[in-house]
Amino acid sequence: MFYFCSMKNDASSISGSGYEIVFSKKAYDSLQAHLASTSYSSIFFLVDNNTKKHCLALFLEHFPDLEDAPVLCMEAGEEYKHLGSCEKIWQQLSDLGADRKSLLINVGGGVVTDLGGFVAAAFKRGIDFVNVPTSLLSMVDASVGGKTGVDFNGLKNQIGVITHPKLVLIDTQYLNTLPAEEYRSGYAEMLKHGIIQDPDYFSELSEFKPLDQSTIVDHIHHSVAIKNKVVQQDLNESNFRKILNYGHTLGHAIETYCLTQPHKENLLHGEAIAVGMVMEAYLASQHCGFAIDSAEEIRRVFLGIFPKVDFSKSDREAILALLKYDKKNSHGKTKFVLLHEIGQPAIDIEVSAENLNAAFDFYLGA
Ligand SMILES: NC(=O)c1ccc[n+]([C@@H]2O[C@H](COP(=O)([O-])OP(=O)(O)OC[C@H]3O[C@@H](n4cnc5c(N)ncnc54)[C@H](O)[C@@H]3O)[C@@H](O)[C@H]2O)c1
Ligand SMILES: [Zn+2]
Repeated sequence: MFYFCSMKNDASSISGSGYEIVFSKKAYDSLQAHLASTSYSSIFFLVDNNTKKHCLALFLEHFPDLEDAPVLCMEAGEEYKHLGSCEKIWQQLSDLGADRKSLLINVGGGVVTDLGGFVAAAFKRGIDFVNVPTSLLSMVDASVGGKTGVDFNGLKNQIGVITHPKLVLIDTQYLNTLPAEEYRSGYAEMLKHGIIQDPDYFSELSEFKPLDQSTIVDHIHHSVAIKNKVVQQDLNESNFRKILNYGHTLGHAIETYCLTQPHKENLLHGEAIAVGMVMEAYLASQHCGFAIDSAEEIRRVFLGIFPKVDFSKSDREAILALLKYDKKNSHGKTKFVLLHEIGQPAIDIEVSAENLNAAFDFYLGA
């Protein structure tokens, strides 16, 4: 197996909160060492039907001894990220005799790593788990930072815990089978990392290119380093970690709305937060002195990568009504992460209803 492992930033691993995020060949060696040093009573895989087909074999090439480990498979997609799927997996773990010394290896996108982490954290009050992210989004975002959980009552990520894997294993070879629109969805989170912390990185990523194995590992490494640094400063999201939610206040409401409306096409997570990031750039220009030219630049970049989504008057009203469920709300008020400049976020900002409507117009170019 050939590895593109240029990694300008040198290190092939990043230290999280009590766990390592390890890249490429070294990642398999680290997991091998972890398994050798920990006597697990049994090892289980959690996959979805796509990652079972496209990713599990690549993983097993490195671990032929695990060929016979039970594979628990959930349906692919956000609509299966709910307690019903967890219950099925807990049932299978019980039936297969899993105990507190079992290990769950999550091989999949953000749905599998979010749900699998939660399943592991709750099963017998907590078993070990390892994340093997296979989508770009899960590599740069979902598999690191400790947030796990599921959607509930039609709302995103309402039930969950903060808990950490034993290891995150990042191998960009998995991306070769990832559908192009899923790749683009993960790219939105990378652009977010640039917008909130690193203007040069944002500029570098502004020229979107399809998957290029020679550069992607450096970009993933850089994004993970940014996310990890933010998380380390504020694990429980009391303050600074909130900046990772840039674009997500409106983005989550848009994603939720589209998921629940038969007349709207579902948006991928990254597609929804791309809209959110453009709208929140406008809000920043109205509430935080963010230069309107920079907001226009953010709009130009995202609309150059993602198709424009149309919003009718009733869509807008329903989306704005969903803001009251945002997890960052406190005392009944919706709080936004906005920007003073690219790279300089502002947290806990309240915005006016008038500007929320104007933000839709800005996005649509109306
Ligand atoms: N925990 C966090 O901090 C955090 C951060 C960001 C997003 N998330 C969550 O992550 C989820 C989105 O993640 P996602 O975009 O990876 O979604 P996903 O897990 O649904 O994966 C997207 C699709 O790609 C398929 N897939 C994944 N890897 C593949 C591969 N290598 N080859 C072929 N197909 C593959 C999956 O089966 C699925 O159909 C959302 O639920 C979101 O809330 C969590
Ligand atoms: Zn996100």
